[in-house]
Amino acid sequence: MYTLGINAVFHDPSASLVWDGEVLAAAEEERFNHVKHGKRPGPFSTYELPFQAIDYCLRAAGIRLADVDHVAYSFDPYQLLGSHQVGAAISLPVAPSAHPTKSAWESPWEPLFLCYVLNAPRQLAGGAPHHLKERFPEVHADGPYRWHFVDHHLTHAVSAYHASPFEQAAVLTVDGRGERATTSYSIGDGNRLDRLGQVDVPHSLGILYEQVTEYLGFQRSSDEYKVMALTSFGKQRFLREFQEIICVQGEGRYTVQPPELEARFGPPRQRHAPIEARHHDVAASLQVALEETVLELARWLHGATRSDSLCLAGGVALNCVMNSCLRDRGPFSRLWVQPAAGDAGTSLGAALWVDARERGSESRHFRMDHAFLGPAYSDQDIERVLRWSKSSYRRMDDVAQEVAALLAVGNVVGWFQGRMEFGPRALGARSILASPIDASMQDRLNDIKDREDFRPVAPVVLEQEASRWFERAETSPFMLFVYPVRPDVAGRIPAVRHVDGTARIQTINRSQHPLFYDLVKAFRARTGVPVLINTSFNTRSEPIVCSPEDALRSFWSSPLDALAIGPFLVAKPAVDA
Ligand SMILES: [Fe+2]
Repeated sequence: MYTLGINAVFHDPSASLVWDGEVLAAAEEERFNHVKHGKRPGPFSTYELPFQAIDYCLRAAGIRLADVDHVAYSFDPYQLLGSHQVGAAISLPVAPSAHPTKSAWESPWEPLFLCYVLNAPRQLAGGAPHHLKERFPEVHADGPYRWHFVDHHLTHAVSAYHASPFEQAAVLTVDGRGERATTSYSIGDGNRLDRLGQVDVPHSLGILYEQVTEYLGFQRSSDEYKVMALTSFGKQRFLREFQEIICVQGEGRYTVQPPELEARFGPPRQRHAPIEARHHDVAASLQVALEETVLELARWLHGATRSDSLCLAGGVALNCVMNSCLRDRGPFSRLWVQPAAGDAGTSLGAALWVDARERGSESRHFRMDHAFLGPAYSDQDIERVLRWSKSSYRRMDDVAQEVAALLAVGNVVGWFQGRMEFGPRALGARSILASPIDASMQDRLNDIKDREDFRPVAPVVLEQEASRWFERAETSPFMLFVYPVRPDVAGRIPAVRHVDGTARIQTINRSQHPLFYDLVKAFRARTGVPVLINTSFNTRSEPIVCSPEDALRSFWSSPLDALAIGPFLVAKPAVDA
């Protein structure tokens, strides 16, 4: 039984395909349409479906849309209309929100928003772009598949719990907003997932973080991780102000007052204006207030569930400093965070939920040990593109050894190997790699990627050696937690040590990605260091590369030294390769 999951609401549109409990494919639309976070501006494209990601999922399984049994959409508009009955009479426009709003993100009461969401089945049946029509014929608005609108926070919760290694767990989801919920609490047991409670708009930790992101001169719904990076430079002198804004009320409830940031902290920073100490302090105070709040929520959830395991999802769960605080100070002994914790992961959660429910399955056999669910390209496909591009290239005898040699002498290498990652982190399939041994490499990489100089770069480390280089390091395959760099080895990997002494690590074992593992091992053999810098293969404001064409374009338009693409090596003229 095929179930197609779709996320097309708010941001990070994506598609996932599940077959009888097994995840066959998942990808974000941004990788195909080259628009970061996937949505082109404009009233008519804002809510369009991720047709290219859907097309990829169908292609990966060798099927057409008519072969799909169920379509699971990660938002239930009928909750907003006061009726859960699909097909119930709807009169539009619906009553607008009492508060004037700037965007649909703030108000799904926007009639245009609801029109698009309610008409999504019709759009899927008839709206595919011409060049993708091959996989979309013979369907109409009523199927042949059955269409399911699924509660947004339920899809976040399933994306974490159903992909986790736990048989039983508490589940916490925190994001900007779903239909109404901004936070949800559940208990998972086998294939059951029961909601214990939720917090609704306007009280949203995710939206507060977005508002501060915008106040600090960054892009809302996109640059929150930059604010997180700033927190390490600041003092918590505005903590009391944020604790006035966020009020935890017990039993998992909290309120968030309108923050009035200008009134509290002065004029907002303009984009590209210098970052002052005040900005660092606002970021640091917000971060601590968020951590303390989520710790309180987790303590309540722990008491309510008596579970020792916690699954986390929702965009706020991409905050790896907060996750690490939960790990170190929270009541749960085991944590698992969905790597596509933002809205992209809801297509996966929606598909897994409908698949399990419709099959009446009692057991779960999917465990998300890796995130390599996107497209792969054969050696022949890659070589065809290399020839077409007229790049000079050669086939390597031993990819791991030859690339390790390039990295060991200070080259920065684009690394394009196997299936693309699902979620916002590059984990060894679409990465830019470099040696962590030279301290100046962080600046060089930020320069290559045209990133702000305060932003750290993250390391990949051999799983079996992680705890020798990072304090108390455990298996961490998705770069969702930070660990302190061990003081006795900090001088050997200065480029990956953030100003607060931590690093957001990825641990790698051979079963996750054999070639990537072999590369790190070969680098260790040459240098004694089982660590590489692993940053995403993209340049500023571009999504991570997906295809060989994308990789070559990015390689030739940035100062990368070499590109290891499948078994082939492309090098800039100055590089001795
Ligand atoms: Fe969400």
